[in-house]
Amino acid sequence: MQIKSFEEYEQTYALSVEQPETFWAGIADNFLWRKKWDKVLSWNFTEPNIKWFEGAKLNITENCLDRHLEEHGDDPAIIWEPNDPERDSITLTYKILHEQVCRFANVLKKNGVQKGDRICIYMPMVPELAVAVLACARIGAVHSVIFGGFSAKSIADRINDAQCKLVITADGAFRGAKQIQLKEVIDDALIGCPTVSKVVVLTHTRTPVSMLKGRDIWWEDEIKLVDTHCPAEEMDAEDMLFILYTSGSTGKPKGVVHTVGGYMVYAGYTFANVFNYKRGEVFFCTADIGWITGHSYIVYGPLSQGATTLMFEGVPTYPTPSRFWEITTKHKVNTLYTAPTAIRSLMSFGTDPVRGQDLSSLRVLGSVGEPINEEAWHWFDEEVGHGKCPIVDTWWQTETGGLMISPIAFVTPTKPGYATLPLPGVQPILVDEQGQEINGNDVSGNLCIKFPWPGMLRTLYGDHDRCRQTYFSAYPELYFTGDGCLRDADGYYRITGRVDDVINVSGHRIGTAEVENAINMHAGVVESAVVGYPHDVKGQGIYAFVIFPNHHEDAELTRKDILQTVTRVIGAIAKPDKILFVSGLPKTRSGKIMRRILRKVAEGETANLGDVSTLLDPTVVDEIIDAAKQA
Ligand code: WT7
Repeated sequence: MQIKSFEEYEQTYALSVEQPETFWAGIADNFLWRKKWDKVLSWNFTEPNIKWFEGAKLNITENCLDRHLEEHGDDPAIIWEPNDPERDSITLTYKILHEQVCRFANVLKKNGVQKGDRICIYMPMVPELAVAVLACARIGAVHSVIFGGFSAKSIADRINDAQCKLVITADGAFRGAKQIQLKEVIDDALIGCPTVSKVVVLTHTRTPVSMLKGRDIWWEDEIKLVDTHCPAEEMDAEDMLFILYTSGSTGKPKGVVHTVGGYMVYAGYTFANVFNYKRGEVFFCTADIGWITGHSYIVYGPLSQGATTLMFEGVPTYPTPSRFWEITTKHKVNTLYTAPTAIRSLMSFGTDPVRGQDLSSLRVLGSVGEPINEEAWHWFDEEVGHGKCPIVDTWWQTETGGLMISPIAFVTPTKPGYATLPLPGVQPILVDEQGQEINGNDVSGNLCIKFPWPGMLRTLYGDHDRCRQTYFSAYPELYFTGDGCLRDADGYYRITGRVDDVINVSGHRIGTAEVENAINMHAGVVESAVVGYPHDVKGQGIYAFVIFPNHHEDAELTRKDILQTVTRVIGAIAKPDKILFVSGLPKTRSGKIMRRILRKVAEGETANLGDVSTLLDPTVVDEIIDAAKQA
């Protein structure tokens, strides 16, 4: 599946556009199917209705585990590096991982989980998280992993949306110097979740936890009661594999649905091809499994290819800012796949931490999650890659399941800040506001995809019409990404950022409406408006304009109170970086907030605000500008 030259890329790409079904059938042949498909693809982007490999039968865990056992059973599947570098790392071979997955799958079955049931997973970055994910897939249960930084309310909303039957969690998580009480958060969440009847709790931090009789059970006790034989459930290619919630421009998170066959083929193919992975190498993706990057490039992509995937529990700066480089040295990491925000944060500590370590094992570097600025790109290239490792700047989304526009390591000439060219099977186009295709090079527009690829979302859980509206209605017959993009004179793509009301904070998507709803829940707040602004480390920061007529005389106290409310409602990841108290918001006569103006104020670019004549009360703008200057 690996492309070896640029010429081969061009030929493969041409084939993938002219004969997509032939192309994808050829790729899918590299995987293990119990029964092959009757039809490669049927689709329309109107409803939308997308089916890949219809009629095929498989189980993704047989691809990720069983098929490697005979020849590679003793190869390391997962290397786990703990938060505390003084503790031992753990290696799970394919044999051991297979055994643990089967055992835990039997625990789920014993507790009443059946094919199609939804399971919520809220766990630290420990090997058991990967085991839990794969155990669900083994028996055909649908996992919904929730990142450990979300609040009880966010979890409850997601559990109720998916009607989850069981929750898998741990007592607590270590993250840098902090401990997070996961079970306590789950206990709070479950007060409002009538569908959950069982909670499996893993021991990790061994912080005291309440264990409710009849509902809560210990992971360690349960696995003693079952055996290690668990045949994989036979799944249809289009059966659901998982739900992953992500933010959109409206307040309610969307449950993105991925299905077994297409997702597996797409995650596996893009992993093998883009990173030029060679058997035996160590692949280190620094994401959390709570995000799509972790699903596709810590778990499913690497394991489907028999790779060794490194799972890191902690954060880049703990105990020191040389942690990533120490891990690279210790485990002889060959590929490091991380986010621009991490690079920028580590850059700020200078070159001592990185120069003190042996990075000679590195062969390929990757970036994901947000546009990478040139300064960070060059630092990554020179200080980490020593000028000899290709950087793959991979553009993709939760909804796309896998990498979409990206260089292929050792194949595509790279250019700082550019995701470069579409991968085989991906057909991007740029459109103007009217939906007209913008042809030629040296142009920019809204990024759409005009043909299906196997890893694309199939629906939003429980709300197919919202899926249609969100992605397929802005421009008829096209999938709209929500991103702005330019195509330069060489035909290379550069993603310029979201064009909707979504902001990208440290590579995490946050809906402005979600944050506004949370702020508005705070007693005394009349109204609020949230925009993104450029932030040195996070890429974008969150700027909140808040109408709060009678706030505490100590405004700083009130700000802290509001942050507390946002933490309660969404989670600490959504806390605004700046809160500005104002007496009004710039609105049009029809009552719409003019965010364009607020964005300018947040950026400090108030000299040229553009046309403000449609505002109901232009004087509020001057007041906001003054307040912002004083803040
Ligand atoms: C949004 C998707 C895909 C995994 C992580 C984020 C932005 C992602 C890049 C990149 C510029 C990027 C886009 C996209 N984004 N990768 N290489 N260059 N922007 O997944 O949370 O679904 O967010 O992240 O704006 O739409 P996500």
